[in-house]
Amino acid sequence: MDKPKVVLGVTGGIAAYKACELLRRLTESGHDVRVVPTASALHFVGAPTWSALSGNPVSTEVWDDVHEVPHVRIGQHADLVVVAPATADVLAKAAHGLADDLLTNTLLTARCPVVFAPAMHTEMWEHPATRENVATLRRRGAVVIEPAVGRLTGVDTGKGRLPDPVEIFEVCRRVLARGAGEPDLAGRHVVVSAGGTREPFDPVRFLGNRSSGKQGYALARTAAARGARVTLVAANTGMPDPAGVDVVPVGTAVQLREAVLKAAGDADAVVMAAAVADFRPAAYATGKIKKKDGQEPEPIALVRNPDILAEMAADRARPGQVIVGFAAETDDVVANGRAKLARKGCDLLVVNEVGERKTFGSEENEALVLGADGSETPVPHGPKEALAEIVWDLVAARLD
Ligand code: CTP
Repeated sequence: MDKPKVVLGVTGGIAAYKACELLRRLTESGHDVRVVPTASALHFVGAPTWSALSGNPVSTEVWDDVHEVPHVRIGQHADLVVVAPATADVLAKAAHGLADDLLTNTLLTARCPVVFAPAMHTEMWEHPATRENVATLRRRGAVVIEPAVGRLTGVDTGKGRLPDPVEIFEVCRRVLARGAGEPDLAGRHVVVSAGGTREPFDPVRFLGNRSSGKQGYALARTAAARGARVTLVAANTGMPDPAGVDVVPVGTAVQLREAVLKAAGDADAVVMAAAVADFRPAAYATGKIKKKDGQEPEPIALVRNPDILAEMAADRARPGQVIVGFAAETDDVVANGRAKLARKGCDLLVVNEVGERKTFGSEENEALVLGADGSETPVPHGPKEALAEIVWDLVAARLD
């Protein structure tokens, strides 16, 4: 079988050096990569580096090797175009259909999926012109990854950093796996909650749970790769932000509720993968609770937390909004799952059987997805991403 053909567009930003790592990952995983840098990109990393790492010729202009008509052929033959880093300038050109060098010509002739990994200063990313260009590109089906937050060129920090090349690679791999055509979640906004809430009762202690957040992160990553705008409400996960995803960190169930309800206002789908504490301590001691010699400890009184899933399902922010819950059950999985689905009023319930070494913190998962329409989708043991893809398949089918 032919290797998948990937065009790696590199534009003129300091993060161009990180694209070498992306290129290496793509070639080592069996992709035939043609690097198309802009003239500005070559100020940061030279053509010999791109050529040596890709094993392919490198040109920036349409005037090289004209007999091969590269300005149309490279785009026509590509299975994926990824632009990393993508400057504000290339986003503007792509959004408006300008074609003044080999990369922008390639973007106009490509009919395959296109991924942009922007990197720029926060002011440029937040400028209304860039916001509109990004919205235009996403509307047309391009995957525009959200930049990461962190150190920028010079002394500045903020949003605009190129996402980790490993993250960009993962997005590329998933977009390629889905093939040509518009990604099925393009133009959709989805909200995912992940992790486990912590309910403090003094400044150093909390009631928590063992949810790692990995399933929620897999859901967020896969939705972004399928073209969705993703808000990930992350409770105490301690994992790096997935590329292409807006992350809202929270601590308690009450904070998680506020963040999820806010994001759900214009969402097409909400997936509650977070383990939300059903109860929180009734009181919070502003000073650390001390043990007292000869005295039994005070019991911790609890109060109920709001059931966010049930609340959202009962009062949908938008007509047709798809709401998905998760449930962990130790026995009678189907009967307990069906009862919970009915009680919560959601459209889909992903039921995990929990037990020794199952689910918590592991890379793998096994589940049964129950639908309010009576459907049952068994998900065999496999990576959390595979389960995530099935959840989005079921969500996408309900959005149509
Ligand atoms: N959930 C929620 N708000 C809560 C508790 C749970 O939104 N206060 C959501 C979780 O994110 C998850 C689903 O509901 O999607 C899981 O519910 P679970 O805690 O298992 O349900 P309970 O009704 O509390 O069931 P159990 O009696 O088994 O604890």
